[in-house]
Amino acid sequence: LRHLLGIEGLNPVTATSLLDLAESYALLNRSGKTQRDLLRGRTLINLFFEDSTRTRTSFELAGRRLGADVVNMSVATSSVTKGETLLDTAATLNAMNCDLLVVRHNRSGAPHLLAQKVSASVINAGDGTHEHPTQALLDALTIRRNKGRISGLTVAICGDVAHSRVARSNILLLTMMGNFVRLIGPPTLIPGGIATSGVTVFHDMEEGLKGADIVMMLRLQKERMTGGMVPSSREFFAYYGLDRKKLAYAKPDALVMHPGPMNRGVEIDSDIADDAARSRIQEQVEMGVAVRMAVLDTLARG
Ligand code: CP
Repeated sequence: LRHLLGIEGLNPVTATSLLDLAESYALLNRSGKTQRDLLRGRTLINLFFEDSTRTRTSFELAGRRLGADVVNMSVATSSVTKGETLLDTAATLNAMNCDLLVVRHNRSGAPHLLAQKVSASVINAGDGTHEHPTQALLDALTIRRNKGRISGLTVAICGDVAHSRVARSNILLLTMMGNFVRLIGPPTLIPGGIATSGVTVFHDMEEGLKGADIVMMLRLQKERMTGGMVPSSREFFAYYGLDRKKLAYAKPDALVMHPGPMNRGVEIDSDIADDAARSRIQEQVEMGVAVRMAVLDTLARG
């Protein structure tokens, strides 16, 4: 693997080996041990043109735990504000012998463009509404640890699917691994033509959640919605917000996930988000570090 630009481009064997490696890093992280030799002498640059808490911090931790020199480039205080283009910015960082370039950008396809222009390995940390591959991998790892498998499960992805790169990467990975994906949301937030093999669309939570093993909630991405189509939070919660009553439609042992950041009382009730028996949201964050270590390790080995 030279770059990680999306789940598109992976196959079940590559995805499984990334998950297996991530599992070993999850165990290592829990034991408090480190492996600081693997990326010694290598440089990782986090280049985030959009805000992030989980992804940027976990890439930083992952890089440091493997011994890399990690630089977080602050776009807000960089020469981007003086009009430097994305490509010129990347070329400048590349000239500093950067080995791993982690990129988040609001334009779909930006990491793909960079991958053609720089010698560093490029990792897509979220591009527009297109893909967020490490999020899908950490979600799959969390599911596999809790359900003992990552195939033959029914996974309901609920809410603002239209603007979600997390949903897109999850649909690709979960169907590739042989799961059944249900997309639940209002017609305005489910893109037309998204129902493919293994993917079914529902507009009603009760129908869509029936028999689900996993309930994955998504934030309303108001920053990507154009004027006039932003739903009211209160109305959205009434129809599509996950509360205990709606969760009861899913299997009794169904687990709740959310990529974060959460908007409590909009797509998810605090009562569910903080329910340790059902919610795996904190474990997702923990697995984020392990998955990103596995990705850096794999790319560094070429
Ligand atoms: N899930 C996710 O991408 O979170 P951040 O935006 O905080 O990185």
